[in-house]
Amino acid sequence: MFRHAQLESVKAWIGNPAHGTLPLHVRIQRAIRQLILDGALDVGKPLPASRALAKSLGVSRDTVELSYGQLHAEGFIERRVGSGSFVSERAQRLPERGTLLPKGEERKAALRLSSRGKAMFQGGGVRDFLAPRPFVPGVPETRSFPLQTWERLQRQVLKEYGALALLHSPPQGVEPLRRAIADYINLERGAQATAERVLVLTSSQQALTLCANVLLDAGDRIFIEDPVYHGARKAFDAAGLECVPVPLDADGLRVEHLREASQEPDEMAKAVFLTPSHQFPTGAALALDRRLAIIEWARQHQSWIIEDDYDSEFHYEGKPTACVQGLDPYERTIYIGTFTKSLFPGLRIGYMVLPPPLVAPMTVARTLLDGHSAPIPQLTLARFIEGGHFGAHVRTMRAVYAERRNVLARLVRQHLADFVEPRVPAGGMQMPCVFIRDIPEHEAVESARRAGIDLLGLTALHASSRHDAGFLMGFAAHAPYELESAVKKLAEVLRELCC
Ligand SMILES: Cc1ncc(COP(=O)(O)O)c(C=O)c1O
Repeated sequence: MFRHAQLESVKAWIGNPAHGTLPLHVRIQRAIRQLILDGALDVGKPLPASRALAKSLGVSRDTVELSYGQLHAEGFIERRVGSGSFVSERAQRLPERGTLLPKGEERKAALRLSSRGKAMFQGGGVRDFLAPRPFVPGVPETRSFPLQTWERLQRQVLKEYGALALLHSPPQGVEPLRRAIADYINLERGAQATAERVLVLTSSQQALTLCANVLLDAGDRIFIEDPVYHGARKAFDAAGLECVPVPLDADGLRVEHLREASQEPDEMAKAVFLTPSHQFPTGAALALDRRLAIIEWARQHQSWIIEDDYDSEFHYEGKPTACVQGLDPYERTIYIGTFTKSLFPGLRIGYMVLPPPLVAPMTVARTLLDGHSAPIPQLTLARFIEGGHFGAHVRTMRAVYAERRNVLARLVRQHLADFVEPRVPAGGMQMPCVFIRDIPEHEAVESARRAGIDLLGLTALHASSRHDAGFLMGFAAHAPYELESAVKKLAEVLRELCC
């Protein structure tokens, strides 16, 4: 029999709303299991007869029988014909009361993370903006995406591949997509790609994590731009790399610093991370002579160039410069691309173009992260590119974003001229604005957030303390009228901060 307290404890467990979705017999079984795990029922102790327990709990005998049957199957109780049910001998080997489910302090101690885990957690991750509020940086307009075309192509894929499309994809990515990507970036970005050298991933973020872990060891040095894309910095920090910031000017990374910092063998960096087409966040394009100098530096030191070409589809003043990968005859460059900006972030398809010897190691390493990318979106995207829809979408959005960039620049000059100066970019989806008055950046970002406006502060992207404070304003995801009302609201926020 149960003592009064034990019966009450079973009733409390069953009645707990947190357990409300479980069927009744499962709740009874779990409640008794909990009493055993907590050491409240000794080994050999007889359990109430099913009829008696059913009566006490106001349930049917069958329900209690189902619970006892499950406790028996899991080894918590023994059932002897004619004598009833008893807490099983095996339950004696359970951990001491309290150790199985640590509470309070013990629960805290259980959260002891590895130094890698700590670095990842403390870095805070990279997805700060979920809902596209103005001026979320780097988020495309999705409301005008040609969903009907996408749906039609996806239907074609399902019809053609049938159940095959439901299986695993090759970890390197499906061949039609790798081919479509290679053709596209050879034409548009001057790359030297083949389908064999493309590795399809879920994102550039995954590519950065792979580069950090497959090409470098913890403690190795990597040159990064200063300021730098926070997603790259966090991936490198999490891998335990030593990030060495290299200053920039209007022509991008100052290569002489890279050369100077490479004089001593123990100061050698195994890689450099670049956003050469459109530096994040300044918007600078890396000058040709510097591209060539970096390629030469990589050749001399057998280092890697990690080229993040994240938004070059959207260049508003002529064509963007060709990518570094296409200029590199020594195959030291890893090219990273993504469809997060050119199509939509929910697609989760990015890719790397790899030097041939890296294809196998990177492909094997990605199988440990997520196995492979989902085949249906890959096959649909391949058709979207091959059918010319990708090119058409990019051309349409380029015109839309160019207009939104101009509108935002005008609005900032009109309404925010007392506070910031816009640095109108030649491409991309966001505009850096630097304070021209002494405004605390963190407070500005926080007050704007409370007013429904997302800004990315510039300070956290910088390693050196000598830089302009300010913020990035994304302009791609919102129509001119939405930009206008948000700029006016931001003006109020900044005015209040300044008074
Ligand atoms: C410089 C840079 N690289 C990469 C990305 C992210 O792309 P993905 O969603 O493929 O990780 C972003 C997005 O904000 C970015 O700004």
